[in-house]
Amino acid sequence: MAWFLFISVLSVVALAVSLLLKLRGGSPRGPGGPPPHLPALPIIGSLLSLRSADPPHLLFQRLQEKYGPTYSLMMGAHKVIVVNHHLHAKEVLLKKSKIFAGRARSVTTDLLTRGGKDIAFGDYSPTWRLHRKMVHGALCMFGEGSASIENIVCQESRALCSTVSEAASRGVPLDLSPELTRAVTNVVCSLCFSSSYDRDDPEFCSMLRYSQGIVDTVAKDSLVDLFPWLQIFPNADLRLLKECVAARDRLLHRKYEEHKADYSDQVQRDLLDALLRAKRSAENHNTAEAAGLSDDHLVMTVGDIFGAGVETTTTVLKWAVAYLIHYPQVQTRIQEELDGRLGLDRTPQLRDRGRLPYLEATIREVLRIRPVAPLLIPHVALADTSIGNFKVSKGDRVIVNLWSLHHDQQEWGNPDTFDPGRFLDEEGVSPVLPSPSYLPFGAGVRVCLGESLAKMELFLFLSWTLQRFSFSVPAGRPPPSLDGKFGVVLQPAKYEVHATPRPGWET
Ligand code: HEM
Repeated sequence: MAWFLFISVLSVVALAVSLLLKLRGGSPRGPGGPPPHLPALPIIGSLLSLRSADPPHLLFQRLQEKYGPTYSLMMGAHKVIVVNHHLHAKEVLLKKSKIFAGRARSVTTDLLTRGGKDIAFGDYSPTWRLHRKMVHGALCMFGEGSASIENIVCQESRALCSTVSEAASRGVPLDLSPELTRAVTNVVCSLCFSSSYDRDDPEFCSMLRYSQGIVDTVAKDSLVDLFPWLQIFPNADLRLLKECVAARDRLLHRKYEEHKADYSDQVQRDLLDALLRAKRSAENHNTAEAAGLSDDHLVMTVGDIFGAGVETTTTVLKWAVAYLIHYPQVQTRIQEELDGRLGLDRTPQLRDRGRLPYLEATIREVLRIRPVAPLLIPHVALADTSIGNFKVSKGDRVIVNLWSLHHDQQEWGNPDTFDPGRFLDEEGVSPVLPSPSYLPFGAGVRVCLGESLAKMELFLFLSWTLQRFSFSVPAGRPPPSLDGKFGVVLQPAKYEVHATPRPGWET
């Protein structure tokens, strides 16, 4: 009943105001004015112009034809500027990095992050800066030695290969998704908690379930994010998100309490120890930083590293395998490069990265053609400013449509074709960046905090598996779909692979 009333009132308002707007139109503005804008109605904003079967990144790309590369729209009561060209994207992310470093709050992200007490959705503030610095420091700490990131990733690569080998020897198709997720989760778990999971560990299975629930429900510009008062109505997505967040919090809380119980100033085992040390030191010295180091802040920062570090890297690996199945000639060329440079008697190491340019070019092409965060995370202007000739007001939200940058016909020529060769120099021997329209990890003060870790993982997981196996479509199955499912990351649909051990790696 309440819904019926709500929709009726909206329809009447919409009709009346659409007449008015037809007269005013979504008009392009001149230099110094606001960007061209989509028609907008009170309360619902530009919702009527955004109805589309396409996911937002494709719709925003298409809207350029009518409004130009930078335009604005209203999401509920909020003005959103959409940027589709690299020049304006770099102005936002690099040239005016700090002005555009804000984050918007929403019902779903507030639920996930206890009101923005994390890094990715936390607003630009001294607390945000402190947490970024601490995580950066902790990631650097894992440089050398037996607990180095390289050793951890190689250990997980070996475990991944043995699971694939087992499926290959039984001749059964394999869904790589949970295997890749476990491998990447274990790397992040080692960094955060010095722990890892076996294949059927119930805690890991629960983590898989709640992570997918979060990806499916958070920050999708759902109605409840646009109109927070809709929370009063029953909402299946919101209920699912709350259950998933509760499951995640139980796990994080347990790890946090365990770490507090055996904390010692003398040893720093992982990121959580580093955060606890900073908290204790700030509390002992009674510094201003202590307020930003509450239990909630610490737990949310660790939660963020899981949230941002697992789903993203796993998704890129799944896209990579899907493309290699579609383009077996690319797979063969990577394997020839691996055989030629490494031989059969040793496994890949990080220092081989420079010697495997075609693999490097393939990773870059996967990150281009299927950017994992096609709209980055929306930024917010913290002061009145401009983008190009367009005025921007404090509080405006800015979406950088990375999809448009990575599929710009002018910059990429046949952007929908998967062609790692475009990232090699003319001789085909060194990786290059052929266009400035390429920002898979964002840029500026909000640049991805895990970029180097992610690149290491992508290189090691792919080189280890491709050295030993060829991946193809299981008999009688269709090839993996290359359409993505839009959520907080752009995921490929579920698919299975047939793995064949390569000559020399049969045992
Ligand atoms: C291939 C894998 C990955 C890709 C493609 C990726 C990409 C991105 C992108 C595009 C952003 C948003 C930048 C913006 O809003 O302008 C981001 C933010 C972030 N990423 Fe990643 N990421 C990956 C892996 C990781 C990993 C492994 C970690 C953690 C160790 C991580 C931690 C973060 C964090 C904390 C942020 C928020 C930064 C902030 O708002 O200050 N990411 N990432």
